[in-house]
Amino acid sequence: MDNSVLTSSLADAMVRVTELSAIAAARLAGRGDEKKADAAAVDAMRSAFNAVDFKGRVVIGEGERDEAPMLYIGEEVGTGKGPEIDIALDPLEGTTLTAKAMADACAVLAIAPRGGLLHAPDTYMDKLAIGPGYPEGIISLDASPADNIMALAKHTGRKVEDMTVCVLDRPRHQEIIDSLRSAGARVSLITDGDVAGVIATTNPLTGIDMYVGQGGAPEGVLAAAALKCVGGQMFGRLVFRNDDEKKRASRVGITDFGKTYSLNELASGETVFCATGVTKGNLLDGVLHRDGRVHTHTLVMTSTDGMVRYVRSSRKI
Ligand code: FBP
Repeated sequence: MDNSVLTSSLADAMVRVTELSAIAAARLAGRGDEKKADAAAVDAMRSAFNAVDFKGRVVIGEGERDEAPMLYIGEEVGTGKGPEIDIALDPLEGTTLTAKAMADACAVLAIAPRGGLLHAPDTYMDKLAIGPGYPEGIISLDASPADNIMALAKHTGRKVEDMTVCVLDRPRHQEIIDSLRSAGARVSLITDGDVAGVIATTNPLTGIDMYVGQGGAPEGVLAAAALKCVGGQMFGRLVFRNDDEKKRASRVGITDFGKTYSLNELASGETVFCATGVTKGNLLDGVLHRDGRVHTHTLVMTSTDGMVRYVRSSRKI
């Protein structure tokens, strides 16, 4: 890995960045204020980035420059010394989960050498993802969710009744949910947090075989950066609800509005992915204050060597 610009010390520095963001957000967990929790995470993430020796550039951030004061798309972070790195970030993935102290909120980021991450606009994206071990072409965004899960069942030799699909619980997904249930599959609904939903497909212990549905495009790139490290397949297609969203896409260089992006187009470069739990969830434990120390739990993955590592840290408060 250290032959790459994504050195292990840079990966360690990124762990610290998501740890500090998660700690800041967790102070606001359960207090009913999504905006405050998000702002605390953003502030902490930006300060932590600025202590790292790299030329960081935010490509997936908190929004466009005129709407986000910090960590906006195009903002440069870091000390300015060291490698040129692109960053996709979500200082608080699951603002509502945090405000309500519900499971699975985390602080997330992915980095890649310059140009290695799709510059996705802040629109929705249709997403379809599975973990490693399946042949190329077994799933498609153009096939129905039922056909996709039946193809996975056939390949694994399992009954479709034993397959589980993770879907965001939204009215817009009712057709997908009905299609999966009528094929016999189980549907595991999540209220928020589709980065974790996609990552769940890579871990057999979660029981999740496939992720499908429409969520944030930025979260799609973050999830792809994670899958790139562990293997798996993912497809994403941007969804535009109006002309303003198309303009946003044009501003970040998108010209083909109907394109289906594969995993390697969403994250074309080598990646490091980090997520630190804010609230305890399936993937990660949350931030915990005990005996004058604050404890964190982080997942860090690197694509160059396929490393998956869980880091537990504790600091004096
Ligand atoms: P926030 O952290 O910005 O609240 O996003 C949470 C999330 O659930 C994402 O994981 C997901 O991609 C997106 O919101 C779905 O959007 P919507 O809530 O509009 O359906």
